[in-house]
Amino acid sequence: MSKSFKRFRSHRVDEPTRVKYRETFLTTNDFILPIFLVDGKNISREIHSMPGVYHYSVDALIHNLSDLVCNGLRSVLLFSVPQEKKIEQAYSESGIIQKSIPLIKKEFPGLEIITDVCICSYTEDGHCHVGDNDKTCEILADIALSHARAGANIVAPSDMMDGRVYYIKEKLIKNNYHDTLILSYAAKYASRFYGPFREAANCSPAKGDRRTYQMDYSNSIEALAEIAADLEEGADQIMIKPAMCYLDIIAKAKMKFKVLIVAYNVSGEYLMIKNSISNKINPPDIAWEVLTAIKRAGADRIVTYFVPDIIRGLL
Ligand code: PBG
Repeated sequence: MSKSFKRFRSHRVDEPTRVKYRETFLTTNDFILPIFLVDGKNISREIHSMPGVYHYSVDALIHNLSDLVCNGLRSVLLFSVPQEKKIEQAYSESGIIQKSIPLIKKEFPGLEIITDVCICSYTEDGHCHVGDNDKTCEILADIALSHARAGANIVAPSDMMDGRVYYIKEKLIKNNYHDTLILSYAAKYASRFYGPFREAANCSPAKGDRRTYQMDYSNSIEALAEIAADLEEGADQIMIKPAMCYLDIIAKAKMKFKVLIVAYNVSGEYLMIKNSISNKINPPDIAWEVLTAIKRAGADRIVTYFVPDIIRGLL
């Protein structure tokens, strides 16, 4: 019997051969490390819901970032966790983010600083708005401007109000911050995978949930419409969040838009994987499989809490 078939296994015989035929590679350039900043001095407190992730005061952060920056960390995403819940603090010159950026920049001039622009850690009820959509956009624009003034390279609105990119872009341009980029969380889903983060950022909604502003996880066409709208309003890069269950959205966005796509491998995804590693259900390199899949789907950059483990060679 003469039968011909393809010999794929010859591409897999050993590691050098597999590397030769590999299509997707991760490098430290791909990663953005989320950081939770608190007020105070010498604070480095592990977050109960997120093993391996810390609340840092800026001095302790700088101390702990040194080896990561020396070994390839290129970019951080800053969140602030204020003690007092006062909205004015979110755009105050003396806010946590505004005070910390110059100190971080001084120590690590080449490190890219992205800031989360949202009010959910500053509102009494833990929501990302003040009731009115457009009034919230005005506040978000003030926050973004205050971050730009402090030296942020990129501002990242994560609130999902309509029109916030428009408000922020206009404010930045009016104040001559032409080089401060906007990374909009364009397709952010109302997800149960944010649970551990809400403890980290102290921003659980006191009442209700975020489904009146974050997207319904059943939808994908709407995600493309959200991305198109944000690009029209002036977004420079777009975020898709969460990542693991949303690879289809990443892939569709990649096909449709010529824009840098960032995917957020969120806290609940991190915790699931981290727990399975700690409990010896899975080996550490399971994280590598997940992150590679996110890049393979089309993400240009990935926000992930695994960055320290990656750079320190623990995965
Ligand atoms: C809040 C915000 C959230 C996350 C990033 N910014 C939580 C939420 O929307 O409820 C989640 C990040 C994570 O889970 O790692 N604007």
